Amino acid sequence: MTQARGQFSSKIGFLMAAAGSAVGLGNIWGFPTQAANNGGAAFVLVYLVLAFVVAYPALMAEITLGRYARSNIVTALGGLSPTPWKRWAGWITGGMGLLVASLILGFYTIVAGWMLGAFIEPGASLIGADALGQWFVTDGFTRNLLLCFVFSAFCAWVIARGIEQGIEAWCTRLMPLLAAILIGLIVYVLQQPGASDGLRTYLIPDFSRITDPDLLLGAMGQAFFSLSLGAGAMLIYGSYLKRDDSLPRLGVEVTLLDTSIAFIAGLLVIPAMYVAQAQGATIFGEDGNLLAGPALIFQVLPSLFDGMGAAGPWVALAFFALMTIAALTSAISMLEVPVATLTEITGRPRTLITPLVSLAIFGLSTLLIFNMDALFDLTIVVATRFGQPLLGLALCLFAGWVLHRDKLLEEMREGHPGIERTLFWKIWPVYVRVICPLLILAVFVQSLR
Ligand code: TRP
Repeated sequence: MTQARGQFSSKIGFLMAAAGSAVGLGNIWGFPTQAANNGGAAFVLVYLVLAFVVAYPALMAEITLGRYARSNIVTALGGLSPTPWKRWAGWITGGMGLLVASLILGFYTIVAGWMLGAFIEPGASLIGADALGQWFVTDGFTRNLLLCFVFSAFCAWVIARGIEQGIEAWCTRLMPLLAAILIGLIVYVLQQPGASDGLRTYLIPDFSRITDPDLLLGAMGQAFFSLSLGAGAMLIYGSYLKRDDSLPRLGVEVTLLDTSIAFIAGLLVIPAMYVAQAQGATIFGEDGNLLAGPALIFQVLPSLFDGMGAAGPWVALAFFALMTIAALTSAISMLEVPVATLTEITGRPRTLITPLVSLAIFGLSTLLIFNMDALFDLTIVVATRFGQPLLGLALCLFAGWVLHRDKLLEEMREGHPGIERTLFWKIWPVYVRVICPLLILAVFVQSLR
């Protein structure tokens, strides 16, 4: 018996879920520091262009493939064409997507666990349990495992509830909350001494950096990661869309939401660093760049909160709530990729598959936690530097070459009558077949040098 496939109940539901996937640690942590270190607003401009010129068309390829096939990445790609070698290519590519999503989830849940710990700490100190709070922010196997487990278990609980009751319900709750916390924090931080220096660093463009190949690479990788591309997450969300929604428009809205939140997060993080500096913290590394790694999130910002007096724990609480929420809505989109695939292939209930998949991924995270030095960075590089761009490229090729142009048009017309007369339709099909793959390839080859 085939069960009815879940779907998003409304356009807003999809937007919140897809924006929830896109807006994650990449936006609030990655984007601001990359921008500040790579010419400020010059980076923001390059990023904007790349997001719309390279990432948006690739996002459209994923969403369209998903809604056309109404299934997970493996079944979708494997079923596009009756030609045997194309079917095989589809299954293998789909399988790689599954792998990339799982690898990303493996390290992402560890980092998310740290955010959760940093959220618990100020809470504990507010109720006088300082020692306990300290344990949650002190590096250690037990603490890492416990936090990662709790975070993963919550993701699993949401995913087990299904598309509408789980993903959609939680994302529509959490995304407005995320936006509210972000704005609240910005208003507070911008009033602190030193904040305007941060604003200047962030917003005054240094165009001398714009020809730097590293800037281009950084911006491209960031755009791919930020829009959750090349792992089948947007594909599976697209497959839960109703046929009466316009795909190109939804794609633009998701891209806009994601880039705006990344930009707005910069208005918080960079000024916050300069406020910390005004309080005496070191915010530059030995290479002269602004600190960007874990030291920024887990040392500079906490030292800033400590210096804020009575408001400190509350600001810390709000900031790490923001980080935890951002990570949560992203992680559930990654978990949905293997869960949907295995549920659809085996025909077993989601409530059974979800805990099994979650445990397997937690196993991977455990492996990473015990082999931090050898495996953690390696996993990140393999999944995000190689996996995502190559899969993104493959998905463009599948949408452009394997899915027939007529079918593509037919799918796009659903929810957007008259699309064949739009600028989008005049450009995108050629674009996704040739230009986008070439652009991704060019940037990828650059990154290997
Ligand atoms: N976009 C998220 C961020 O910016 C991360 C993310 C969520 C992701 N789902 C993904 C990355 C799927 C790659 C693939 O943090």
